[in-house]
Amino acid sequence: MTSIIINGKTCAAQAGETVLAVARREGIDIPALCYDETLAPYGACRLCLVEVVKGEKKETVTSCTLQAVEGLEVVTETPEINKLRRVLLELYLAQAPRAESIRKLAEKYGVGTTRFAKRVVRGDPLQNRCVLCGICVRVCRDVIGVGAINYIGRGQFTEINTPFYEENEVCLGCGACAEVCPTQAISLEDTAETRVMKSWSETRVPLKQCNVCGRYYAPEAFTSYAYEKLDPELKASLKDVCPDCRRKGMTRQAIRLSMGEPVTG
Ligand code: FES
Repeated sequence: MTSIIINGKTCAAQAGETVLAVARREGIDIPALCYDETLAPYGACRLCLVEVVKGEKKETVTSCTLQAVEGLEVVTETPEINKLRRVLLELYLAQAPRAESIRKLAEKYGVGTTRFAKRVVRGDPLQNRCVLCGICVRVCRDVIGVGAINYIGRGQFTEINTPFYEENEVCLGCGACAEVCPTQAISLEDTAETRVMKSWSETRVPLKQCNVCGRYYAPEAFTSYAYEKLDPELKASLKDVCPDCRRKGMTRQAIRLSMGEPVTG
């Protein structure tokens, strides 16, 4: 363990931890769009800037990439940092004018409007909410291990989608991309037997049916993929049953056990 100072408060840090991770654990608010604790630091959104204090010297760095080393002292809000954040938020307001979370963050920093031209695309699969933080691309590639989506185009025409905007059969339909998106830009929809990844070129993924209640409950490809990673005993105990039926089954077993009755599958 080491200790660092954030806004004058001494905080314990574990080896290899970043300043942003320590701050979050300590309940110190630092805005961040491209950070997720399951992913390697990326440093794309720049909102998590902090000021490192070294005697008379000061340096502005991204806290999501800054290692917490013994004696490090940082300040998370200064007039200069807030000024930089306000400019960044203006850029994000222009890039993603329909993103409610960006609007709220901007308001918090006193930014009500943007001086930059708003990018509004009719029929945008990402609902004019994408800030290109890339967290969806990284979670799909680095955590799920699939890589169904990526950046497309360059400069002001950069977007995130499936290759050639075509339905992508490698997509498992897990929805991790939507889960981590900080601006709720990604949409998916479960129809009767299929999950439609609306943002990803309407990629369609069949859903798996529960052996007990018959309900379609999870993408077929994703459950097969996840089951492969489980130990065989646990895999066998899941028996293609939806979480609801599994929970009910466990409750029934617990009741039988408490009544001294034998437990049967
Ligand atoms: S969270 Fe640090 S740069 Fe985005």
